[in-house]
Amino acid sequence: MKTMLIGDHIVKSFREGAEKRNVLGGVSVEIDEGEFVAVMGPSGSGKSTLMFALSGTDSVDNGQVCFDGRELSKLGENELADLRRTQMGFVFQQPTMLKNLNILDNIILLSMRDGSRNPAEIVEKARALMKRVGIAELEKRDIAQVSGGQLQRAGICRALMNNPRIIFGDEPTGALNSQSAQEIMDIFSEINAEGTAVMLVTHDAKVAARTERIMFMRDGIIASELKLPKFNGTGTDIDERVKQVTAKMREIGI
Ligand SMILES: Nc1ncnc2c1ncn2[C@@H]1O[C@H](COP(=O)(O)OP(=O)(O)O)[C@@H](O)[C@H]1O
Ligand SMILES: [Mg+2]
Repeated sequence: MKTMLIGDHIVKSFREGAEKRNVLGGVSVEIDEGEFVAVMGPSGSGKSTLMFALSGTDSVDNGQVCFDGRELSKLGENELADLRRTQMGFVFQQPTMLKNLNILDNIILLSMRDGSRNPAEIVEKARALMKRVGIAELEKRDIAQVSGGQLQRAGICRALMNNPRIIFGDEPTGALNSQSAQEIMDIFSEINAEGTAVMLVTHDAKVAARTERIMFMRDGIIASELKLPKFNGTGTDIDERVKQVTAKMREIGI
């Protein structure tokens, strides 16, 4: 598999009063085209910071991040914004959506601001995505009139509008019950099966167990990694995988 995203000895620190605290202490990570990976680790271990660094959301103090061989710190502001908009999709614990717009309008809002795109095609694309994730009938609903799981599906549609090559999810199932979380994971699995790389931060062993590689972070470094074969979709497979993930978590004390 071709390497798509490389983080090479990334260092990131934040100032705490007079002190500088290293949040990422030289993390190296490679993500292949179409890979399905998870990041686990205690709160404050640097998972979100790593994801922000790899996605060019935030700069790094030291080390490099390269996407398709292009070093992010060398890109101009517009080039970086273009790269992020066209190649990357983002899903968070709770999608930030505007209260005065319905679900469809929230999904298409950013794409509509891109003057080079045809509005009818944007709506068509959004409707196709909504249908695919099972919320086709909700397009006119206000965001307050749908469940957390439905809102997250809308967030995923929004992230997929530009056919990204990688989706970054920062605890995308963190606000959902376990049934909805698994349904959202079914969607991520499908997206991944079509060739989009997916990187998820999660606390949930059952969520991580659906991926093919889990990086365990502790104190700003990747303390360990677990590789798993592709998930075959069965209950016995998931049980076995969860056992492996939790065993690893215990082994490294997270
Ligand atoms: N913008 C920031 N300013 C100061 N400290 C930050 C900032 N972002 C994160 N941190 C600190 O960095 C550490 C790691 O944060 P984060 O990456 O969000 O952890 P995680 O996602 O693993 O819970 C935490 O101690 C957090 O307080
Ligand atoms: Mg976080």
